[in-house]
Amino acid sequence: METGSDYLQNALAHKDDEVDVTLRPQGFESFRGQDKTVERLKVMVGAAKRRGDVLSHILLHGPPGLGKTTLAFILANEMEAQVRVTSGPVIEKASDLAGLLTNLQEGDILFIDEIHRISRTVEEFLYSAMEDFRIDIMIDQGPNARSVRLNVPKFTLIGATTRTGLLTSPLRSRFTLQTRLDYYSRKDLISIVRRSCELLGVEIDKFGADEIARRARGTPRIVNNLIRFVRDYAQERADGKITRDIAIAALELLEIDENGLDEMDKRVLRVMARNYRGGPVGLGTVAVAVNEEADTLEEVHEPYLIQEGYISRTPQGRVLTEKAWQVLGLDGATGSQSSLF
Ligand SMILES: Nc1ncnc2c1ncn2[C@@H]1O[C@H](COP(=O)(O)OP(=O)(O)OP(=O)(O)O)[C@@H](O)[C@H]1O
Ligand SMILES: [Mg+2]
Repeated sequence: METGSDYLQNALAHKDDEVDVTLRPQGFESFRGQDKTVERLKVMVGAAKRRGDVLSHILLHGPPGLGKTTLAFILANEMEAQVRVTSGPVIEKASDLAGLLTNLQEGDILFIDEIHRISRTVEEFLYSAMEDFRIDIMIDQGPNARSVRLNVPKFTLIGATTRTGLLTSPLRSRFTLQTRLDYYSRKDLISIVRRSCELLGVEIDKFGADEIARRARGTPRIVNNLIRFVRDYAQERADGKITRDIAIAALELLEIDENGLDEMDKRVLRVMARNYRGGPVGLGTVAVAVNEEADTLEEVHEPYLIQEGYISRTPQGRVLTEKAWQVLGLDGATGSQSSLF
């Protein structure tokens, strides 16, 4: 059987399907939370429209499932622009990029997902495309080799990445706005739960919504995935309405951690407790022990653990908090075990 953590992993990996399409906000008015980012984007959209100009390049970064792709599509809707979607690893050669760019029309949005995975050579071509709206490519080889300048229509590049740390600074600096999405507050998550249930025609009460929001790891994509299962459970095992008891029973059946932590979050906490007595310990050391890249820990897991108060950062390294010892069922002072998840 799928365990809770598998379920969370799948929920994160799970991208666009029909439910996702129905639930994805289409305009700023239905996009909840991320107030600062939304305000910055509204300012840019408003000004570009007023000037009759093309929107400047925007980099959206932050952990998976928080709304980067959603915002890119909202920007396209707001600008009434066409959007071309591609992703870093797909653009292998300069000619792939040239093909994409020369097919754009003025004002189009080029959305490059996972932009940190673009190759260094392609990246260099992107610089002049972003800055001067032209690219110089070499055609032919040997004595016939020559450079050809291609003009590119004025376009907007929207880059999305979960790993800003891997982006070179010349690329980063070519985006007019670099804005980070953060984990959602409980209040915003509750509001997302309610909106999704309404769109799906599912009845839910305040306590049911709170229970789902609490276990969604600050992430709208997880909210939507949990709702689907809880809805099925409510229909199969009750009268279809999601109450607190139904939500708890369904989420327990999935073995979803009641704190919304995923398997890697828990491994990090366990390793810090067992191997390093709660720290201080360097992130690189923890990364080796849990067999994960340090960058991923830093950009995907640590921010959530810090926001939720399980880990704190000190100049000497990362330290487990009292709250972490409690969820681990361990006593921080002695490290002695009462129970373990
Ligand atoms: N602010 C929001 N309000 C309501 N729903 C949201 C919000 N943000 C995201 N969602 C929902 O969460 C789902 C995941 O969002 P999205 O695909 O935009 O995340 P992402 O940041 O692009 O993730 P990844 O890094 O994995 O590509 C969307 O389909 C959408 O339904
Ligand atoms: Mg995305």
